[in-house]
Amino acid sequence: MKEEGKQLKVIRCENYDTLSKKAAQYVIEKVKQNPSLTLGLATGATPKKMYAYMVDDYFENKTSYEQVKCFNLDEYVGVSRKSKNSYYQYMKENLYQYIDVQEQHTFIPNGTAENLEKECEMYEQQLADLGGVDLQILGIGENGHIGFNEPGTSFHAVTHVVKLAESTRKANSRYFSSLEEVPTHAITMGLETIMKSKEILLLISGENKAEAFRKLMDGEITTDFPASILRNHPNVTVLEEGAKVEV
Ligand code: F6R
Repeated sequence: MKEEGKQLKVIRCENYDTLSKKAAQYVIEKVKQNPSLTLGLATGATPKKMYAYMVDDYFENKTSYEQVKCFNLDEYVGVSRKSKNSYYQYMKENLYQYIDVQEQHTFIPNGTAENLEKECEMYEQQLADLGGVDLQILGIGENGHIGFNEPGTSFHAVTHVVKLAESTRKANSRYFSSLEEVPTHAITMGLETIMKSKEILLLISGENKAEAFRKLMDGEITTDFPASILRNHPNVTVLEEGAKVEV
């Protein structure tokens, strides 16, 4: 492991189930310690089972989210909140419909806002007004994106509109009926926004993420690989499974 990677605390897990359970326990512990925590949340395949374990815990142990605030990383541009492909619906389906989080405490960019630039500014402001994210959950793209900050994004970017990389559109086309239907743009928290989080929990699952995991640990800190910026953050924990590479 390179010197600069030292701050990244890595917990290697046996499999996806263990990773998900550990991730859920991590979040639940933080919520118990601070019942009015501000969580930053990710969508996609990786955190799905973590959410399922949080829901199980909610039913079994009644961990309350009543005072918790939730900010999502990103949303597709042009996809209505009613659409099953919106991240708004994803959060409802996987988490919000089951737990006692208050609707006015759940924030997600509106990808159908008339003025997208204003929407981004407002989102950034709402987050700042609430004191920023306490614990940010992240997944990672095979190309090293976090949120939808694709390679080449400035480390100083705040919430903004992005053009999705073709590889990202292809990877996400599994949820749409055709590649053409996958949106070309999204709103995402910027790398600077993400880096302001007090603590970050990054989930990396699957052999297809092995190269990204290796680059994160051993590669350079460069905008060509956006997640590499995390090596400059003082409090990142990486939960990893499936990469089968030594770092
Ligand atoms: C999703 C997000 C993305 C995903 C990444 C990995 O809100 O911000 O960065 O975390 O694309 O997606 P999965 O988990 O589907 O491989």
